[in-house]
Amino acid sequence: MTARTVVRMTSLFDPITLRGTTFHNRAWLAPMCQYSATDGVPGDWHLVHLGARAAGGFGLLLAEATAVVPEGRISPQDTGLWNDEQVAAWRRITAFVHARGTHVGVQLAHAGRKASTYRPFAASSGSVPAADGGWGTVGPSDLAFPGYAAPSAMTADDIAAVPGQFAAAARRALAAGFDTVELHAAHGYLLHQFLSPLSNQRDDEYGGSAENRARLLVETADAVRAAWPDERPLLVRVSATDWLDGGLVVDDVAQVVKELAGHGVDLVDVSTGGNALAPIPVGPGYQVAAAAEVRATSGLPVAAVGMLDDPHLAQRILADGEADAVLVGRGALRDPSWPLRAAHDLGVAAPALDVVEPTADVAPATTTGWQPQYARGAWH
Ligand SMILES: Cc1cc2nc3c(=O)[nH]c(=O)nc-3n(C[C@H](O)[C@H](O)[C@H](O)COP(=O)(O)O)c2cc1C
Repeated sequence: MTARTVVRMTSLFDPITLRGTTFHNRAWLAPMCQYSATDGVPGDWHLVHLGARAAGGFGLLLAEATAVVPEGRISPQDTGLWNDEQVAAWRRITAFVHARGTHVGVQLAHAGRKASTYRPFAASSGSVPAADGGWGTVGPSDLAFPGYAAPSAMTADDIAAVPGQFAAAARRALAAGFDTVELHAAHGYLLHQFLSPLSNQRDDEYGGSAENRARLLVETADAVRAAWPDERPLLVRVSATDWLDGGLVVDDVAQVVKELAGHGVDLVDVSTGGNALAPIPVGPGYQVAAAAEVRATSGLPVAAVGMLDDPHLAQRILADGEADAVLVGRGALRDPSWPLRAAHDLGVAAPALDVVEPTADVAPATTTGWQPQYARGAWH
C-alpha cells in the first residue's frame, strides 16, 4: 500500500494571524475613498459603507486613504486622522464593525503632489484652486503629475516632519479603535513619489539611489511601528511597478519590501501604477504576478488586489501560494456581501463569527458567517 500525503491548500475562508491579531478569513475589503467627509470627519455614509461590508462577511475592512495632515488629502472631502473630532467619528464606525465580529484597519495617507484635486464625481476636474478650497501641494521635487498643479519641492524640514505625522495619526487610529494601519505607499501618493525616479529627482539623502528613495518610507514605517502596539499588524500598500520606462519595476519594489520586513511591517498589499500616465494591461488578476514576486523576494505575506472578484480566481491565488489574502474593491461596491456569496459559490462554509450584538440569546448556528438578523437570507 502506498502512503498518500494529503496537502491541504489555503482557502479564502481560512483564518490568518499576523502578530497577535487573527483575521477570521482572507477575503478583505480594499480601501476605497468615498470622498464624502466634511473637514476630514467620517459620517453616516462611512458607517453604512463599512458597516454593510462588515455584516457581509469580510475578514478585514480597510478604511479609505485617510490623510495624516489636512494638506495630505487627495480631495477636500477625504477623511482624516489629524484631530480628536475625527477620532470620535471613526470610533463609532470601528465599534459597529467590531460588534459584527470582524476587524477594521485604516489606510494612512499623504497625497503629496496629487493632493488638492476635485473628487471624481465633481463637476470640475484637476487641481482645486484656492478660491474653491484648494491648497498648495508638496512633493519630493517640483515636478507636476500630468494635468495637476506643480508641487513645491519639500525642504529637509518638511521631509523630517513626515514620519512623525504618520505616527501621530497611528496613535489616533489606535484611540479610534482600529485593529491595523496600512501605510499608503502606492498609486502615486507621497511615499510612492519618493520611491519612484519619475517623481523624485532630489540630490540629497532622500533621492538618487534606490536606498535613498526608500529612506522616507522606511523612516515612516519605523515611526509608525514605534507608535503602534506590538500585537497589532502594520500593513503597507505599494505600487509594484510604474508601468513606464524609467520608472519602478517589480524587482525594485520587491527589494524595498524585503527591507521593510526588517522594520516591523507584517504584510504588504501589492497594487501597481498611479504615479504616471501609463498603459496598464488591466484584466482579471493582472497584478497577481507582481504580488507573487514581492512575496517570494521579501518573504513577507502579501495581499493581492485587482479584479479578483471571481471567487474561483481568488481561491486559486491563495491555493497556489501567490498571495496570503485577497482584497476586493469594486466587486464589493456591487455586492456588500461578496464573501458570503463567494463561500456559497465555492461550496465552503464561511466561519462562524463572534458576533457581539445581539448577545446571549443568539444560537451559534445562526452566526455561521451571516449576521443573525440576515440568517434567513443565507444560501442553502
Ligand atoms: C471608488 C474607489 C476608491 C478607491 N480608493 C482607494 C484608496 O483610498 N486607497 C487605495 O489604496 N486604493 C483605492 N482604490 C483602489 C482599490 O483599493 C483597488 O486597489 C482597485 O479598485 C482594484 O481592485 P478591484 O478591481 O477589486 O476594484 C479605490 C478604488 C475605487 C473603485
